[in-house]
Amino acid sequence: MGDDTWAGLADRFVDEAYASVKGRVRTYVLHQHLLEHLPGPPAPVLDVGGGAGNQSFPLAEAGYEVTLLDPSKAMLAKAQQRLTGLPGDAQRRVTLLQADGEDAVDAVKGRRFAAVLCHGVLGYLERPEPLVDQLCRCAAAGGLVSIMTGNAKASAVRPALERRWDDALASFDARTEIGVLGVPGRADTVEELSELMRSGGVEPLRWYGVWLFVDWLEFGGAELDPSDSKQVAATAAVELEASRRDPYRQLSRVFHLVGRKASS
Ligand SMILES: C[S@@+](CC[C@H](N)C(=O)[O-])C[C@H]1O[C@@H](n2cnc3c(N)ncnc32)[C@H](O)[C@@H]1O
Repeated sequence: MGDDTWAGLADRFVDEAYASVKGRVRTYVLHQHLLEHLPGPPAPVLDVGGGAGNQSFPLAEAGYEVTLLDPSKAMLAKAQQRLTGLPGDAQRRVTLLQADGEDAVDAVKGRRFAAVLCHGVLGYLERPEPLVDQLCRCAAAGGLVSIMTGNAKASAVRPALERRWDDALASFDARTEIGVLGVPGRADTVEELSELMRSGGVEPLRWYGVWLFVDWLEFGGAELDPSDSKQVAATAAVELEASRRDPYRQLSRVFHLVGRKASS
């Protein structure tokens, strides 16, 4: 485990990004996608690069046994802090583990999981292969692998909406950019990650977009009010529908790919 790059980003990511309308849409949409494929609780779920648990704590609340693995002390401290806000039985279903995702198999001591999540992590790594290989190995026979990451085919969307036209023109074939948190990020394609999953014995089942209209509105300068719960729920319902369909999902800046490991 190297320097804790996430120490300086933890508050902005967990307290600010997730509290926004975009953050709420992300949590809702991904949770709904996962429920389409997960076996019932208390199936064990491993969240690799799970950060502060924003994606997997809702699963613990729904009855799943969650192991959250992350190399960042600062993110794990945030996870610990957020954990105390969950009901006692959900708290008892969560285990926190400090390790790099590239060492996940050893870190979980060879345990296999009904689902392995890796959301918003691959884009911060130079190459996806070593981590995807570990995700596939941690999945049990018949288990899911769920990856959310940047969509290399939609890289012109953000600079164009921010009216940075030279950057937008240069970005069509680009794989890297400085992301919204101010750190460099790398994007992948559904096709390439599907191939990587297959080489790990995991068959891609379905892919989705994540945000679309909220992204466009925010980059275009609109202010969305996260305290207006009726509007947030209505927005999330539209985003969920868009995430499942072409052509909308193809234009989402991030995609969610779900695969299943062969059953023995
Ligand atoms: C953008 S946050 C995403 C957190 C969480 N998955 C979510 O969606 O809310 C990225 C996370 O990846 C973690 N991370 C960075 N490098 C990693 C690696 N090599 N293996 C596993 N996690 C890593 C960071 O510590 C951070 O918690």
